[in-house]
Parts: sequence; C-alpha cells; structure tokens
Amino acid sequence: MSGTSNPLREMDNPEKVFNPKHERPNPSFQTSALPGFKKVVQGRRAVRSFDGSPLPENVMRDCLHDATLAPSSSNLQCYELYWVRDGAKKIQLAALCLDQPAATTAGDLIVVVSRVDLWRSHLAKLSEIMTESGKKPLRGPVRAYYEKIVPMLMRTDPFGFNNLMRRLMFWYKSRNEPTVDGPVTRGDHRVYGHIQASLAAENLMLSLAAHGYESCPMGGIDGRGIATLLGLPRTAEVTMVICAGTGTPKGLMGPRVRLPFSDLVKEV
Ligand SMILES: Cc1cc2nc3c(=O)[nH]c(=O)nc-3n(C[C@H](O)[C@H](O)[C@H](O)COP(=O)(O)O)c2cc1C
Repeated sequence: MSGTSNPLREMDNPEKVFNPKHERPNPSFQTSALPGFKKVVQGRRAVRSFDGSPLPENVMRDCLHDATLAPSSSNLQCYELYWVRDGAKKIQLAALCLDQPAATTAGDLIVVVSRVDLWRSHLAKLSEIMTESGKKPLRGPVRAYYEKIVPMLMRTDPFGFNNLMRRLMFWYKSRNEPTVDGPVTRGDHRVYGHIQASLAAENLMLSLAAHGYESCPMGGIDGRGIATLLGLPRTAEVTMVICAGTGTPKGLMGPRVRLPFSDLVKEV
C-alpha cells in the first residue's frame, strides 16, 4: 500500500474524502451526545417480564435500522434479523426459547442469525453498490482487498482444501511478519459470523433503550428448532433471540452486578 493510489492513506484529505455531514460528529458531538449515550448504556438491562404490547411499528423499524449500522468485518454484514410478526410463529418461537418469561411476555421477538454462508452474495452486492454497478471500479488496495483477500479468507470447500491452504499460507507468512491467523477452519468462520451478528444485536438493544423500551438477549434457546421455524438453511445459525417491549416492575431481577473493573479491563 504505497504511493498516491492508496485510498487508506488519503483518508485524512478533506478535499477528496466523501464526508456526509449526517454521518459525522459535529464539533459539539461529545458534549451533546454523551449524556444521552450514558443514559442508554447505563439504562439498558436484561428485563425478564414485559406487558406484552408490541412496539409501535415505526419505532421497531428505526431500531432495526440502527442495528444494521453496526460495524462488520470487511463490511460483509453476514447476519440477518428476523422480526417475527406472525402471531402463531411468535408463540412457537417463545416455546423454542424454552418458554422463558421474557419470550412469552415480550411485545416483539427478533431472531438474530449468523449468515456467514452468504458472504459470496453479500460481497457481490457490496461490490455492485460501491462501484455503482461497475461505473466506478474499485482501485488499488481496496480493489485488491475485496477481489483477492476477502475471497481468500472466506472461501471454503467440503474437503477443507481451502482451509489447509490458508493455514499453510498464514504459517509461511508469519515466519517473517505479523500475520492474521484466521479465519482458517469452519469453526473460525462460525465465530466470525456470530461476532457480526452479536454486534448488530447490541446496536439493536441500545437503540431499543434509547427509544425508551426494554430488551432481553436470549441464548438459552433451541437454535436448530428456531432455524427450522424460520425456514433457514442448515448453513445459517441462530446467534440469539432479542425479546423487546415495555418491561414490568417484576422484570428486573435485581441491581446490576458486574465483576470488579480490574478483572475485566487491563492496562498494559
Ligand atoms: C448472548 C447472551 C445470552 C443470554 N441468554 C439469556 C437467556 O437465555 N435468558 C435470560 O434470562 N437472560 C439471558 N441473557 C441476559 C444476561 O443474563 C444478562 O445480560 C446478564 O445477567 C447481565 O445483566 P444486564 O444485561 O441487566 O446488565 C443473555 C445475555 C447474552 C449476552
């Protein structure tokens, strides 16, 4: 990545960089956004009982939109969010959440699904969008990244040939320079997908909190059963279910509990 064709190097050039005002913090961003941000982060709790009333449709759509603004590796956005609106499906879904009260009483249920299997079609769509249907071809390192590196990292085959190639390539390269060590295996790709899906889930819960609603993330679920209910292929994996709605007083099981800060945050 050297020379003037490196777009990453040009990122600080205000003349050339696309800089839409609505996506960028203005100078007062810190003072204007911080109190609200703190309220949202500190106010979000896992709530286990709701009054059953669904969120207004426009609010839920807004929260789901915020969820899709989460960052994702290589921007591949390898996840899907299923807002389950059909009454019968909702009842079945709550049963597949092991009838946990948060699920049986939630106004809305959203299934967060890892779709790492869709990387190829997402990459094609991304390329279509970024190049404006081929009118503005990608250049330099961005082109190399999306056309060579991403397929190299994501490609798999039933016999594990690509996994072996990646492992050998990373090992060979790492003898001389810092080198990524994954994804290599199918397990690595599964983790990759659940990471992206989880980031979207957190955005969703924070947006729900900002709109004045409560949520509960749920991993104690029958993921395979939920995938079948939603008609998902075997390559899709349910990451978690988000229960959402208006909490009732008995929904909060106690004060927030956290380990000592020093157990979780290390200064090195
Ligand atoms: C991935 C994940 C799975 C979870 N699964 C469940 C669950 O199945 N049932 C439940 O009641 N809470 C579940 N929780 C909520 C946690 O228990 C809760 O976030 C934790 O106790 C901290 O409480 P707080 O979110 O109110 O700070 C889950 C949370 C996460 C992140």
